[in-house]
Amino acid sequence: MKYSAYQVSENDGKFVGKICELEKPDLINDHLIIKVKHSSLNYKDALAASGARGVVKSYPFVPGIDVAGEVIESGSSDFSVGENVIATGYKIGMAVPGGFGQIVQLPSNWVVKSPDKLNSSEAMSYGTAGITAAACVKKIVDANISKDLPVLVSGSTGGVGSISVGILKKLGYQVHAITSKKDQNKTLEAMGATEIINRDDYISEPAKALDKAIYGAAVDTVGGDILAKMISMISNQGVVSCCGNVAGAMFTSSVFPFILRGVQLSGIDSAESSLALKKELWDLLADQWSIDLTTQTKTVNLDGLSVEVDKILNGGQIGRVIIEHGE
Ligand SMILES: NC(=O)c1ccc[n+]([C@@H]2O[C@H](COP(=O)([O-])OP(=O)(O)OC[C@H]3O[C@@H](n4cnc5c(N)ncnc54)[C@H](OP(=O)(O)O)[C@@H]3O)[C@@H](O)[C@H]2O)c1
Repeated sequence: MKYSAYQVSENDGKFVGKICELEKPDLINDHLIIKVKHSSLNYKDALAASGARGVVKSYPFVPGIDVAGEVIESGSSDFSVGENVIATGYKIGMAVPGGFGQIVQLPSNWVVKSPDKLNSSEAMSYGTAGITAAACVKKIVDANISKDLPVLVSGSTGGVGSISVGILKKLGYQVHAITSKKDQNKTLEAMGATEIINRDDYISEPAKALDKAIYGAAVDTVGGDILAKMISMISNQGVVSCCGNVAGAMFTSSVFPFILRGVQLSGIDSAESSLALKKELWDLLADQWSIDLTTQTKTVNLDGLSVEVDKILNGGQIGRVIIEHGE
């Protein structure tokens, strides 16, 4: 049986994505063969599609760290043919061919049963961005951060950032959003941001060793100087959930926020989180933490992927892109 996939190949040092016909693999013990109905585009997928070092083991390769679909062959007694499932992270779309193909074969212990309230398109409008945002917010909720001070979110029009804004608002936090996009204030307000901060203004003054403590917590999706400044502005016992590096991997801080205010810098690695945590986050997104992403989700087919990959790499993506596989 053949299936279509967006396969990236290396040609004279250039990485190009093309739609190819591939052969369905044979079922391996303890694995599932899944017919992918939807996948989604994350920053890591764009890195995989552009040949960035250290993301994909070897090319040609089918990226796509997110998968939502139906089990068509099962080598595990925990899953039946016909069940709707979701899989994100681990080595999907990095060492094991991912959701940019209509068929994937995955170890069953990488896969969760889809919550009844989420269809495959809704699940992928969250995707890895959604469970990462939920993991960032969970750190803040679990630390019992007071709702008296606002929570600051960076990269707020991106996938992780925008979903973080929406969940925090739903949970009753005041949300202040940092963005570079001057024309997106209305979208951010609709998501729940009460104050929008221009990124260049925010970092126009370098971070101080300790700044005014005006935020209760923060979700940082970008790293670099923005993360450094955020840390200096967090109030006593506050939390900074740190998950991304689009603005830079390195940052310079002082010990004062940590030793004088008890601030916690909390790292998020959603790809390698336990399956139990992923299941808990999916259940929250399907129910108490669900937000409406319809206006900020764009659906494309495999033909439309290359354009969206370029956009996310240039920092121009707004909200979420999901990939719909035809029959
Ligand atoms: N740790 C994990 O488990 C995990 C999981 C998923 C993603 N991530 C990481 O989280 C980050 C965001 O992922 P995403 O999927 O949300 O990406 P995305 O949709 O491209 O969003 C990133 C946003 O960051 C802002 N941005 C882009 N370039 C920037 C720059 N040079 N300086 C400052 N801000 C910049 C932009 O928002 P504005 O224009 O609104 O500022 C952009 O929309 C990435 O680094 C990704 O690798 C980590």
